[in-house]
Amino acid sequence: MSKLIIVSNRLPITLVRKRGKLKIQSSSGGLVTALSLLENQEKSIWTGWPGIALSHLNPEADGIKKLLKSNSYHPVFLSKKDIEDYYQGFCNEMIWPLFHYFVQYALYDKKFWKAYKRVNEAFCNEVMDVADSRDTFWIHDYHLMLLPKLLKERLPNAKIGFFLHIPFPSSEIFRLIPWSEEIIEGLLGSDLIGFHTFDYVRHFLESVRRVLGYEHTLGQITVKNRAVKVETFPMGIDYEKYSGVLNDKEIRERVQKFRKKIGTNYKVVLSVDRLDYTKGIPQRLNAFDVFLKRNPKYKGRIVFILVAVPSRTEVEHYVMLKERVDKLIGKINGEHGTIGWVPIWYLYRSFEFSDLAALYSIADVLFITPIRDGMNLVAKEFVAAKTNNKGVLILGEMAGTAKELGEAIVVNPNDEEKTADAIRQALEMPEKEQYLRMETMQIRLKRYDLKKWASDFMDRLDHINEIQQKMNSKALSSKGRRNLIKFYTKSKNSLILLDYDGTLMPFNENPEKVKPDQELKSILRSLYQQKNNQLVFISGRNRKTLDDWVGKFSNGLVAEHGVWFKDGVWKTIEVLSDGWKKEIHPILEIFVDRTPGSFIEEKDYSLVWHFRKVDPAMAMVRVGELKDILLHITANLDVGVLEGNKVIEVKNSGVNKGRAALYWISKKKWDFIMSIGDDHTDEDIFEVLPGWAYSIKVGFGPSKARFNLRSYVEVRTLLKQMVGA
Ligand code: UDP
Ligand code: G6P
Repeated sequence: MSKLIIVSNRLPITLVRKRGKLKIQSSSGGLVTALSLLENQEKSIWTGWPGIALSHLNPEADGIKKLLKSNSYHPVFLSKKDIEDYYQGFCNEMIWPLFHYFVQYALYDKKFWKAYKRVNEAFCNEVMDVADSRDTFWIHDYHLMLLPKLLKERLPNAKIGFFLHIPFPSSEIFRLIPWSEEIIEGLLGSDLIGFHTFDYVRHFLESVRRVLGYEHTLGQITVKNRAVKVETFPMGIDYEKYSGVLNDKEIRERVQKFRKKIGTNYKVVLSVDRLDYTKGIPQRLNAFDVFLKRNPKYKGRIVFILVAVPSRTEVEHYVMLKERVDKLIGKINGEHGTIGWVPIWYLYRSFEFSDLAALYSIADVLFITPIRDGMNLVAKEFVAAKTNNKGVLILGEMAGTAKELGEAIVVNPNDEEKTADAIRQALEMPEKEQYLRMETMQIRLKRYDLKKWASDFMDRLDHINEIQQKMNSKALSSKGRRNLIKFYTKSKNSLILLDYDGTLMPFNENPEKVKPDQELKSILRSLYQQKNNQLVFISGRNRKTLDDWVGKFSNGLVAEHGVWFKDGVWKTIEVLSDGWKKEIHPILEIFVDRTPGSFIEEKDYSLVWHFRKVDPAMAMVRVGELKDILLHITANLDVGVLEGNKVIEVKNSGVNKGRAALYWISKKKWDFIMSIGDDHTDEDIFEVLPGWAYSIKVGFGPSKARFNLRSYVEVRTLLKQMVGA
């Protein structure tokens, strides 16, 4: 039976050593809250770090493994060094600040990177211990961005999903990472990659394009032979659990207890966060200070309960933040407090669900103003817990949640004056308005709750796997290959039509550098020498290059995408004119001037604008512009505009590879025809082939070809097998 394997850096439990004994505590943070729902599913295993420093070689490790197994947890042990370099270092002193736009905090240390790779590999090994290829893997968060690729290499057919719980930054920020390529490659090992908001998706796709040059269509990227889908899944909460808090007797008792302690005369403003610099706690405190100064009538009538959960206490910026927050609270309380009234109640600890639920229930205002936050579940939990619909949410606009909870009072956390005004607005909001705002938000949260979020993700993962299977269904299987070879060896008259670039040789930024290598020459020589064979190269290259590079292995050549063909001597396919070139050349020159990395190739009857070396984002814009201009200008000329692999070609219309192929096809009665090509321009050939012929597209994606091969390497293997047979 297949299982769901959840992998995250942190397990939902943390082991702590107290007086020499190990104790189990709940972990904190939004990720753990979200995934605790999944762990109750049958047949799931959660792999992660149990929160203490321990080498896996330590004799204690085995005992812990056994202990956790009963909860279906599979621990990954981190040594002290791993914790320092991987968890605190790479994850929390580089990725965390950078992905939250705290660029100046990020440390790019090679030692951290090495540890990150090492620990991701260790996670992979541990996962492999409990997994098999029928399982579904759901990997979570920024600690494990290399794991999807590592797992995919070991289990190519396994379903792998990845979800990032924090923001994905703009590509301008992401590119600052010296190891950005490896990180993107790691993530693209997944079949499905999920983010909280559409902005994060957009940033990720842009980074993929800039860093690795992969384009996408509606969020689908073709990575070599695989489709990877990138989508938005705004994480929800366990709505029922929070909306039902007042049905629970224990929670009702807690509400009463807290109420008694706070007193009934006070309005309660609450905030709950891990003590993290991304949460905007100092800015929030300053805004509260401004509020008290501007609204003295609220003095003695309001308390601000600030819950700050200790987090990453070994990391320098967290230590500094703690000092800053402690001081600031002292200052504000000292300045505004009176005997019998303390404005800020500062609780530096974590609370269990029932305490937290009681606090949500009591609070008149939840005050959450992160500088940057992937989602922020606390805001959603508060809204769900307000079953009487009384209460107001103040929300920082840089929280992912703000995209969904527009009925909150949305503020810019850096604008302390306006944030202070928001507190007053919240305290004075008429009940009817509170009710309306709450209700709208609740309906939304109820509909897309945690279960829906998880099932949506799983459905989309299944869906992308179906797409992949369809893509692979055209792959030339070993049986298909045997049939092809059998057919070929029996034939008396075979025609083989081969494209060159991308089919026999890989692409290069410099097209002059793609001369055939020794291996290719030897394959082509043997193929050419086999009797009954006619070997024809149909390429976009010019005549001279084709003649020089593959002329001696060929029975025929077609150059410039069908303009010229050589059957003995070179001829044009029809009488052509190149008079149009003088109009088009100056336009292409302007584009070369405006687009660094691009250049013009001039052939006898065509002009080509190459943009392989151009920054992909810029190329996309320029290609659109150029095509527009060319289509407009060529409307009265007898020329066509054609988009190839990183090229735009202008040439006489009606001339294409298909027409040239027909010349060879109709030359005699063939009993074997095979055409292999990788480009849009090869589709014209596939279209004119008889239905029984072998048409093979190199790479995946929509094509008229009957079969697919992954790359030029597989093409060479097939040709070698044909020669060998
Ligand atoms: N939480 C908790 N006890 C606390 C404070 C917070 O259990 O004392 C939970 C809270 O209910 C929420 C999560 O921790 O589910 C925090 O998630 P959020 O997305 O708000 O922030 P993160 O910590 O992930 O940055
Ligand atoms: C955020 C991250 C989680 C992390 C949590 C607590 O929610 O997205 O991956 O578990 O913070 O941080 P910690 O470093 O204690 O695991």
